[in-house]
Amino acid sequence: MTDPAAPSARFGLDAVDTGLEASLAAELAGVEELLRASVKSDYPFVTEASSHLVDAGGKRFRPLLVLLAAHLGDPGAQGVRESAVVVELTHLATLYHDDVMDEAPLRRGTASANARWDNTVAILTGDFLFAKSSQLLADLGPEAVRIQSHTFERLCTGQIRETVGPSSGEDPVEHHLAVLADKTGSLIATSGRFGAMFSGAGDTVVDVMTRFGERIGVAFQLADDLLDIASDSDLSGKTPGTDLREGVRTLPVLLALRSEDPADARLVSLLGGPLPDDAEHAEALALLRAHPAMAEAAAVAHRWAAEARAALAPLDPGPVRDALEALCDSVVDRTS
Ligand code: IPE
Ligand code: IPE
Ligand code: MG
Ligand code: MG
Repeated sequence: MTDPAAPSARFGLDAVDTGLEASLAAELAGVEELLRASVKSDYPFVTEASSHLVDAGGKRFRPLLVLLAAHLGDPGAQGVRESAVVVELTHLATLYHDDVMDEAPLRRGTASANARWDNTVAILTGDFLFAKSSQLLADLGPEAVRIQSHTFERLCTGQIRETVGPSSGEDPVEHHLAVLADKTGSLIATSGRFGAMFSGAGDTVVDVMTRFGERIGVAFQLADDLLDIASDSDLSGKTPGTDLREGVRTLPVLLALRSEDPADARLVSLLGGPLPDDAEHAEALALLRAHPAMAEAAAVAHRWAAEARAALAPLDPGPVRDALEALCDSVVDRTS
């Protein structure tokens, strides 16, 4: 029986095709081995800090997408496994940095690096992981380096634009969706692209998987932002309400802020800025959880997942396409 915690099972792929799922599970084990080897340093403390979040778990969604896309060509081809590790290392590095920026105490069900050590260790370990990712990337050739550098530019730009907020006259929801495409869609798009590219699947498929990844990436982040409000840390492995606490305006907040209903006046006033006060934070979280903006934002996430599914139209029917379609549902319906 498939391990229910395996990434391929977590995203419901065991129900699609047992042969494909078994291959993915074996390939993911190979990714895991290279990932763990890649975060090692000659200095035991550096290895301890960089292994901290690798050992803590995580969904491995981006490597899974690389591997799935690679099944549209030759999944055993040189560069598939390495590029899966490149995207996970990049993601991992952004998590170390993100938890500093968000002052988040919990990650992957354990103490964040900034909570376990301090901001300096978390920032430098993130940089160390970027360096490790670059070392693998160098062996994948200049085209991969170019793609990854543009991806990373978009990721950083998205994070910066989220921090700065919309300019005057810019629609906040449009700005927000563009930020999500940059900060999260970019790396997930590159995951699909690398898998297709290194497996030799051909230009059309590379294009399809890039567009698919971008769209499912936005859906993935919209779902994450809903979970930040609705889920418990037991399930998500993160502290609920971190975005509200930090004053990060995710889609449900932007939609609730549009309300002119006098019954929403208290919520709208609480959502005006960061919420360092525990009682106000708990009040805002409870009001937002019960607000129709949650269902509206969930509908937007489902629309992005449907767009991702539509991007698959040029692919031949078969188990890989079925699995990619199943991913569209599981990404937005997930609870962790
Ligand atoms: C968290 O990513 C950051 C987002 C872009 C939403 P994941 O939800 O993939 O985190 P892990 O890797 O499973 O911990
Ligand atoms: C971070 O977004 C996305 C990145 C690209 C790093 P979040 O701040 O929502 O991620 P979590 O919720 O902390 O995982
Ligand atoms: Mg965060
Ligand atoms: Mg989040």
